Amino acid sequence: MRKKVIAGNWKMNMLPNEAISFIEEFAPLVKDTQNEVILCVPYTDLFYALLSVQNTNIKIGAQNMHWEEKGAYTGEVSPKMLKTIGVEYVIIGHSERRQYFNETDETVNKKIKAAFENELKPIVCVGETLEEREKGITSQIITSQTRLALDGLTAEQVKNTIIAYEPIWAIGTGKTATSDDANNTIKEIRKEIEKIYGKDVAECVIIQYGGSVKSVNAKELFTMSDIDGGLVGGASLKPEEFANIVKSV
Ligand code: PGA
Repeated sequence: MRKKVIAGNWKMNMLPNEAISFIEEFAPLVKDTQNEVILCVPYTDLFYALLSVQNTNIKIGAQNMHWEEKGAYTGEVSPKMLKTIGVEYVIIGHSERRQYFNETDETVNKKIKAAFENELKPIVCVGETLEEREKGITSQIITSQTRLALDGLTAEQVKNTIIAYEPIWAIGTGKTATSDDANNTIKEIRKEIEKIYGKDVAECVIIQYGGSVKSVNAKELFTMSDIDGGLVGGASLKPEEFANIVKSV
């Protein structure tokens, strides 16, 4: 049985004092959950968040990183920098990074490899645009993004990769994919992994759904056969709302 993994993606929100207050309120609400709970916070909150989650079941993730270990890359943060301060997860290839910051399938792949070299667990985002969906090429887009993201990884690494299927038209729009739709696309992602790495590996991979997840729709989505939790943006900014999402399953 795969575990449910529920990650909050705060994006460019929350100052350090807000992060600390959030965790103070949120931690007791989720202390008894069997699900994996992750908060992916801005770089400037990482250190404060890591201190605040000590002695809790909450894990901390970053939202991006560079693939190089160090060097002349002004403004970038390396995997080693994240690992050294105690970060465990990192979101890679979020659609906002693909859309606004030139993230490509190739840089996504480099970053995933760098994450594993530094013992960080990647949460890799894939998802189609509205235009692609309307053209009927969702499967093609999703399977190609998955294949290119995982290119060259070992079976063991793939087993430890979290994939977040986030249809871009559902992010921050209040529109959610239906649970059947999301489940079917996630099944296709699993099938693609099976083609390359075999059934055993494919059955281990955690695949989340993301895109306007809220406490009112979380249970229906997360109880589908192939949806192993969620990557939650807007609704992860409120402690009680996010706790209800975590505890929906
Ligand atoms: P949303 O964002 O929940 O606000 O739609 C999800 C995401 O971008 O990861």
